[in-house]
Amino acid sequence: MNTVKVGVIGCGHISRIYLENLTNLFEIVEVVACADLYEDAAKRRAEEFNIPTYCSVEEILLIPEIDILVNLTVPQAHAEVSLKILEAGKHLYSEKPLALNREDAEAILALAKVKNRLVGCAPDVFLGAGIQTVKKILADGWIGEPYAAFGQIVMGNGYDAMHPSFPSLLKPGWDPLFDMAPYYLSAFINFFGSINRVAGMAGNVQERFTVTNPKSAFFNQTLPIEAPMHASAVLEFDSGVVANLQASKASFGYLPKLEIYGTEGILQAPDPNFFSGPILIQKENQEIKEFPFTHSYREDTRGIGIADMAYALRSGREHRANDQLAHHLLEATFGIMESSESGQYVSLQTKVKRPQPMPLDLKYNVLDN
Ligand SMILES: NC(=O)c1ccc[n+]([C@@H]2O[C@H](COP(=O)([O-])OP(=O)(O)OC[C@H]3O[C@@H](n4cnc5c(N)ncnc54)[C@H](O)[C@@H]3O)[C@@H](O)[C@H]2O)c1
Repeated sequence: MNTVKVGVIGCGHISRIYLENLTNLFEIVEVVACADLYEDAAKRRAEEFNIPTYCSVEEILLIPEIDILVNLTVPQAHAEVSLKILEAGKHLYSEKPLALNREDAEAILALAKVKNRLVGCAPDVFLGAGIQTVKKILADGWIGEPYAAFGQIVMGNGYDAMHPSFPSLLKPGWDPLFDMAPYYLSAFINFFGSINRVAGMAGNVQERFTVTNPKSAFFNQTLPIEAPMHASAVLEFDSGVVANLQASKASFGYLPKLEIYGTEGILQAPDPNFFSGPILIQKENQEIKEFPFTHSYREDTRGIGIADMAYALRSGREHRANDQLAHHLLEATFGIMESSESGQYVSLQTKVKRPQPMPLDLKYNVLDN
């Protein structure tokens, strides 16, 4: 097969599942190189996944055969690395968030246009069985006309401080709005289309955090918490649907919820941070029924958005985890924060097309029939 050649920049925690899927699952992609600020990190992943080359960021940018470079660095480095990738003439796929401010996001999209390159961005979890099945259930009218939705993610923020980039977890980019809300926003946009306006409140219960875990590399350090660790938002969609979103990293554990309310039923959707989970529908007679999945990819298939982009490159069709979705979703995030400061609604300037549903009955390992 004529594969699309992929390189990965950022060989930390999340790179493992990406590389597992990109090297084993999707036949259209071929990972030819990986890079990191730290050579050891790149070497470790190259050995683990039989990747032919590991090298520095500057070197990977110069490898001529690479079509798509995947940016899996920490959020604070996303914009800088993504601009380098586009400058080098490669197609870009970035982990979320695409950028931490409007200017950087717009600079990435403008450079992609000048260079005629594609931009893809996580989350791609909405391409999995869970959200794709819910999307079909809504489109087929099982709960009548959806008019409202509720999304909630309440969790801790890795306060055992064992994440190698723990101080980054306390800065903008790894806060609940940038880190977790995208799973909910991308699901909502898939279900309901463009967001018209948002209102939000965001804040913190602590200003700094002292690491008490003796096993952490940051033991005894007191670090500032520089981003809001809890936020509540109301989103109004062009379709008239209204959604509430509660995102917090100020507690502990992990408590997700995604519900959609329709004129003829209530749907409990799977956690949009996972590829599957029970789909329950309650109808007028109060009976709750579980729905079977209509779509493939129930396991953790992170990286599926890159494979989808590879098909788009080959056929000229649109890719689903695309720049417009990433930009619109980010605009909603900025809007929630701005609304929190101003006390006003914030209207979004961009519109987004709902990504095409995934095909039914896909053969294993392929995304286009
Ligand atoms: N950890 C998770 O569960 C998870 C899940 C989904 C998405 N993500 C996203 O994936 C991204 C990476 O998360 P992670 O948990 O793998 O972080 P991590 O800190 O474990 O890994 C990041 C890697 O990027 C490297 N890096 C940092 N700046 C760089 C630069 N300028 N150039 C090259 N390499 C650089 C670091 O050395 C490190 O190896 C984040 O945007 C995060 O939001 C993480």
